[in-house]
Amino acid sequence: MNKVENGNHLTVDEIEIKLLLDAIFLKYGYDFRNYSRASIKRRITQHKTIAGYQKLSDLQHQILVEEPAFRKLLHDLSVNVTEMFRDPLFYKKFRTDIVPILQTYPFVRLWVAGCSTGEEVYSLAIILYEEGLRERCQIYATDLNESVLKRAKTGIFPISKIKEYTTNYIQAGGSEQFSDYYTARYDSAIMKKFLKDKIVFSSHNLAIDGVFNEMQVVTCRNVMIYFNRKLQNRVVTLFRDSLCTGGFLCLGKKETMKFLSCEKDFIEIADQERIYRKHKS
Ligand SMILES: C[S@@+](CC[C@H](N)C(=O)[O-])C[C@H]1O[C@@H](n2cnc3c(N)ncnc32)[C@H](O)[C@@H]1O
Repeated sequence: MNKVENGNHLTVDEIEIKLLLDAIFLKYGYDFRNYSRASIKRRITQHKTIAGYQKLSDLQHQILVEEPAFRKLLHDLSVNVTEMFRDPLFYKKFRTDIVPILQTYPFVRLWVAGCSTGEEVYSLAIILYEEGLRERCQIYATDLNESVLKRAKTGIFPISKIKEYTTNYIQAGGSEQFSDYYTARYDSAIMKKFLKDKIVFSSHNLAIDGVFNEMQVVTCRNVMIYFNRKLQNRVVTLFRDSLCTGGFLCLGKKETMKFLSCEKDFIEIADQERIYRKHKS
């Protein structure tokens, strides 16, 4: 009889996925063991088919002996979908309700966790610039995936996306010329240097790494949705401990603090936009 997990017997596929995730952790230190099982299973299975493996055990062996095979799998395990001013009403709320409080502080530190290719970070940088906070803010943008971080650092986005991003910007309460924030070159839009200057990009894995200190704002949007409850609890504890008292935590539209271990340490200040404020250390 197979091992029982959460009251269910594991299938052979589930056992092989568990072994694969253990192998990844032991060999490379990337910890996907507490990601939501359904979505990780889907992505591993897709990768197995596309990469042409017959069995999950073949994939496991290959990633152990060939790092490039692991890098390809890693690429397929992380979902990097993002856009500028994604969920414009979140950014509108951020501007109208959070920024006036930040404007009373001498210095503002923000951590964008799971920043992907950087669209969210540049969106925040634009708001902070427009609201006169650029000179006294520092944005830390992190992700576990080195290749998306590299792209984020360049600040280069497809010009084909600019129409959609301009609409988002306006819906988010932007009233300047969005085209002032980038230079168009061939099929690319290159974000202006004054926006990049305030951003430090670095590698950070929410499943294993530690806190960032004394943040006034942490945004982690559309990341925890891929984690199981245990990992979500780890991550919100990390955010609570990284925020100063009165600091803001911003989650994605489908994410919530409800029923998580730190729920009592936050008050919800915008229900729809998923913005929380830490009220004790
Ligand atoms: C769907 S994107 C969200 C991007 C952006 N926050 C947004 O809302 O548009 C999820 C990002 O989380 C990152 N991620 C996943 N697991 C992570 C972990 N354990 N630590 C840090 N980043 C992680 C992925 O690499 C990916 O770039």
